[in-house]
Amino acid sequence: MMVGEALAERRDVAGRLHALIRRLGPQPLATYMAEALLHPEDGYYRNRDPLGAAGDFITAPEISQMFGELVGLWLATTWQALGRPDPVVLVELGPGRGTLLADALRAARAVPGFQAALRLHLVESSHALRARQRALLGAAVAGWHDRFDDVPDGPLLLVANEFFDALPVHQLVRTDGGWQERLVDSDGDRFTLVTSARPSLLAALVPPELAAAPQGALVEVSPAAIALMATVAGRIAARGGAALVLDYGPGVPALGASLRGVRAHRPADPLQAPGTTDLSADVAFPTLARVAREAGAQAFGPVPQGALLAALGLAQRAERLLARATPAQAEQIRAAAFRLSDPAGMGMAFKALAVLASGAPTPAGFGAGA
Ligand SMILES: C[S@@+](CC[C@H](N)C(=O)[O-])C[C@H]1O[C@@H](n2cnc3c(N)ncnc32)[C@H](O)[C@@H]1O
Repeated sequence: MMVGEALAERRDVAGRLHALIRRLGPQPLATYMAEALLHPEDGYYRNRDPLGAAGDFITAPEISQMFGELVGLWLATTWQALGRPDPVVLVELGPGRGTLLADALRAARAVPGFQAALRLHLVESSHALRARQRALLGAAVAGWHDRFDDVPDGPLLLVANEFFDALPVHQLVRTDGGWQERLVDSDGDRFTLVTSARPSLLAALVPPELAAAPQGALVEVSPAAIALMATVAGRIAARGGAALVLDYGPGVPALGASLRGVRAHRPADPLQAPGTTDLSADVAFPTLARVAREAGAQAFGPVPQGALLAALGLAQRAERLLARATPAQAEQIRAAAFRLSDPAGMGMAFKALAVLASGAPTPAGFGAGA
């Protein structure tokens, strides 16, 4: 929900949110997040490029070309296993600078017919990042969209790295009156959190495994993520294809508040300076897998990112790059391979979930325990 023009007494994100809360009372965190991240004029993900050393954070494709290359080979070999649908709509949700796709498409040239079958569609809210994607991917892109629903129909290959974590979440607290929502209040200057006195209708979205949580327990639910996964999986169930979702979040249903702010590579208070702080929350992979199955598709995983990259050949890919690297480059390649797969870091904190139509074969990297 965006705040209407009538409420825009101060024309920045914080000013509009304070005005909204003054008029309508405390608001869901999801409203606060949507306003802060996606407002069409000055939302965080509207006009800026937040990636890289000069920005707020770094992502796996920006750490090393190996990440996008392995994802590209996953997409191409999955396409082959699905009977080489042609044409196939390749979608990236939130492509950032376009780095993942550039590396993926280069690596996937090895698979005959794949590039020619692709119709590339990008779902991206940021004008600054669309410009970077255009500069890197140019003529390969058939279209940009604000929402997945606007992507043309057809057999689908979809990849989303660090996209679902940016979708708005609600926080529910278990009380003796059931699940009640934590809301954002305003004292005029600062935002604070309060708990609604009424039971929340969103209690229906609490994972069944957490329904008996003790009083005081907190759970995050994301109707936006659930709706998006239902649409993507429904499209795959009906038209065929595959989706690969990579992000951070626990592999089992989990309690607790994970909403976090990041600015200039450091943790920042998510309730301070909305619109200039990156906001994200853990992705509820078990919920996404359940939603995909309910939409008629198969879900594989989540598997740890480190295990997926190892299965897809990270070590071999690194060896090939090392063979023609200078000593300085070699050090970078080894450090990047370790960073992407380290079980004490990204290798375990990040997970991968694959969604395919029913009857499709198990995709590469999701074999054991899928
Ligand atoms: C954390 S960045 C990840 C970028 C890229 N996938 C990577 O790994 O480097 C999130 C990306 O999703 C985009 N984004 C975030 N929320 C969005 C939304 N609701 N709709 C469309 N794009 C969104 C951002 O502009 C950005 O491109």
